[in-house]
Amino acid sequence: MKTDILLGLQWGDEGKGKIVDAITPGYDVIARFQGGPNAGHSLEFDGKKIVLHLIPSGIFHPNKLNVIGNGVVLDPAVFKQEIGTLGIPLEELTKRLVISSRAHLIMPSHRILDAASEKRKGNAKIGSTLRGIGPTYTDKISRNGLRVGDILSIDFRKKYAEHTNNHLRQLSSYDFDFDLAKYEEGWFEGVETLSKFKIVNTEYLFNDLLSKNKKILAEGAQGTMLDIDFGSYPFVTSSNTISAGACTGMGVSPKRIGEVLGIFKAYCTRVGSGPFPTELFDATGEELRKAGHEFGATTGRPRRCGWLDLPELKYAIMVNGVTQLFMTKSDVLSGFDKISVCTSYKVGGKTCDEIPFGDTPTEPVYTQLPGWKEDITKIKEFDKLPINLKNYIKYIEDYTGVPITMVSVGPDREETILR
Ligand code: GDP
Ligand code: IMO
Ligand code: MG
Repeated sequence: MKTDILLGLQWGDEGKGKIVDAITPGYDVIARFQGGPNAGHSLEFDGKKIVLHLIPSGIFHPNKLNVIGNGVVLDPAVFKQEIGTLGIPLEELTKRLVISSRAHLIMPSHRILDAASEKRKGNAKIGSTLRGIGPTYTDKISRNGLRVGDILSIDFRKKYAEHTNNHLRQLSSYDFDFDLAKYEEGWFEGVETLSKFKIVNTEYLFNDLLSKNKKILAEGAQGTMLDIDFGSYPFVTSSNTISAGACTGMGVSPKRIGEVLGIFKAYCTRVGSGPFPTELFDATGEELRKAGHEFGATTGRPRRCGWLDLPELKYAIMVNGVTQLFMTKSDVLSGFDKISVCTSYKVGGKTCDEIPFGDTPTEPVYTQLPGWKEDITKIKEFDKLPINLKNYIKYIEDYTGVPITMVSVGPDREETILR
């Protein structure tokens, strides 16, 4: 069998968690392959709402294996806290969840370095979630990291102290006050909890399972425009969020990748700094924020809102090799008389549909489509959707050349229409 990849095609928060939870029944294994607790994946079912940061979104389905792959950066303190919110007994959880020995550890001093770096940047800050993501991936790439497998070694405390001292030396060059002890106690308690889980070389596990005809779903975090290579650098996260990241973040070869399921919102949002061509600063932007409850699942920050950006979507489809599109938050657009979609950009007086390098001023060129008024949240069949929504879907499909095979009409697992 193959590994399907589900990932975000915009700036994150496309509804990945909801959709992964909804389609988990069709898979045997759900795996995270990059990112860390910067992610906030919201799930709703049976009247409950849960936000996951590190744990894959298949965790609520018994008899499914969830795996945290090598490409993830893991904060033991967040891990312990999060598993306490799931309502699943630890004994059961240790059967459902396996962790890669090669995943890197976010240390308390990484969080402090993240905050110190953002403060130093001032107005040029990334708008990081302050979860220590950047400094941890920096240590990984510079070959200075500490990994999950290290917690099992007898000299782990010594290694921890060496790494922390290294960070403290770096921190001495910042004008930044911090309290390391505040984080350390919870962190070591988290390490203790982590050690109760199966920590293995998950690349063997994934490949063995695929050889045994098991189906794996790789769950992306963040979104394509936050990818370290292809996003709006430097206003990005520190990992490869695109489909290629699933190969390196799991140890699965491209030959074993099946469908690439690309999720996008029916409009756009972004948290943190950086370019966002279709951002709306007016009452319509506020209306989208209100109707879509657009506040960050990890930090609670208001999300910046704007119309759908089709050149951006097409770019994301290209770099990911998307084979099917899933559109979420369609219900949020109900009630608008007209819906704008960006079909090209004006850059330096010229019309183009390529995302320009860096922060080149980019003016969106819009086409307006008629809206729909109906409440669509109770609709279960594609054919019953309002004609203008179907026309909106057709317009996107014609522009991108990729079919929209799933439409999400509400935050609940059940509010999902398969075509
Ligand atoms: P993720 O990071 O991609 O998993 O997305 P988030 O959970 O950060 O943000 C998506 C938000 O939209 C969450 O509050 C979800 O509960 C909600 N959501 C997901 N799909 C839909 C949908 O189709 N309609 C509405 N109204 N809300 C949705
Ligand atoms: P999910 O998985 C939206 C953004 C931050 C910031 C930039 C870098 O829920 O879609 P980082 O903490 O990674 O160094 O922050 O990336 N960011 C996200 N935005 N959704 C996310 O995750 C994000 N994870 C990071 O706001 O702009
Ligand atoms: Mg999110």
